Amino acid sequence: MRVFAPGRVNLIGDHTDYTGGLVLPMAIDLGTTIRGDRGGGRVVLRSDACEGVAEMPIAVSDPASALPEWARYVAGVVAELCPRQGFVGEITTTLPLGAGLSSSASLELAVALAIGDERDPLRLARLCQRAEHRGAGVPCGIMDQLVVAAAVEGHGLLIDCHSLERRAVKIPDDVAIYAVHCGEERRLMGSAYADRRADCAAAETLVGPLREAGIDQVERIADERVRLRARHVVSENDRVRSFATAIAQGDYGRAGALMRESHRSLRDDFEVTTTALDQLVDRLCATPGVFGARMTGAGFGGCAVVLATPRTEIEGWRLRPSAAARVAGKSLG
Ligand code: GLA
Repeated sequence: MRVFAPGRVNLIGDHTDYTGGLVLPMAIDLGTTIRGDRGGGRVVLRSDACEGVAEMPIAVSDPASALPEWARYVAGVVAELCPRQGFVGEITTTLPLGAGLSSSASLELAVALAIGDERDPLRLARLCQRAEHRGAGVPCGIMDQLVVAAAVEGHGLLIDCHSLERRAVKIPDDVAIYAVHCGEERRLMGSAYADRRADCAAAETLVGPLREAGIDQVERIADERVRLRARHVVSENDRVRSFATAIAQGDYGRAGALMRESHRSLRDDFEVTTTALDQLVDRLCATPGVFGARMTGAGFGGCAVVLATPRTEIEGWRLRPSAAARVAGKSLG
């Protein structure tokens, strides 16, 4: 059996998914492959990118205590799926790990397809989201798992994280997407991410769902930190809508400006960038041929995403909009 699950880059809409907001990620041509065979009563996976073996019985009760640490993603999926039989195989990956390109969601989806029979993209995404909560202890939203499960080749995916409606947004051929690593591994992911979620929840007790709130409502929140977090979310949802329109109209100047605004909002209001990310984005935005750049994913290190004319000289990954996770020879849904 052979399974491939892409990573993703988020074009715009960060830290909006867990309040039911808008996001526009794109599955990429870097990802996770698993080759192996079903059978037996244990799941045994080796990885070309990580030390040790992920080995566990098909009945897993405490995925968060699995070792080595990367095995927690596998154990989370096994615990959620309760497969009828085991699996022995090898994982290979072309994704940089912990760089903000969703190596974790990619691994979760690849494992779920290899060991389980669920093929509905939304149910798979939800299952893998729960697996990440249980295994890695990160209270992530649905964006990463859903785009990996439901992406359409050649397109980004505009997702309403409340209704879970998806709309494929064509990525035109006269524009290119790059990811560039800022040189810093992501830090503080679990705890700082959970803190931001808590700030957003605090804002929602004051003004109701942020996806429905207006900017003047959030400007009246007395607590400064909560006000800034809420302002990011409300303004970012607007930017996602405008970005999708700008891309559809071929207005890359406008799309790039929205990416730069998004970065500033994540830097100043949501406070999830780092100095290295800020400097990288400034440098990229000053590069001829670049329309815009911003941090992508959770932040705290990792990658910036760049919108540029094709053949721009950028020392990163040129990313192609790719199809969803799949079992060789079959597509999902
Ligand atoms: C991580 C999470 C996502 C999302 C982003 C920030 O990638 O897994 O659910 O919250 O951070 O946009």
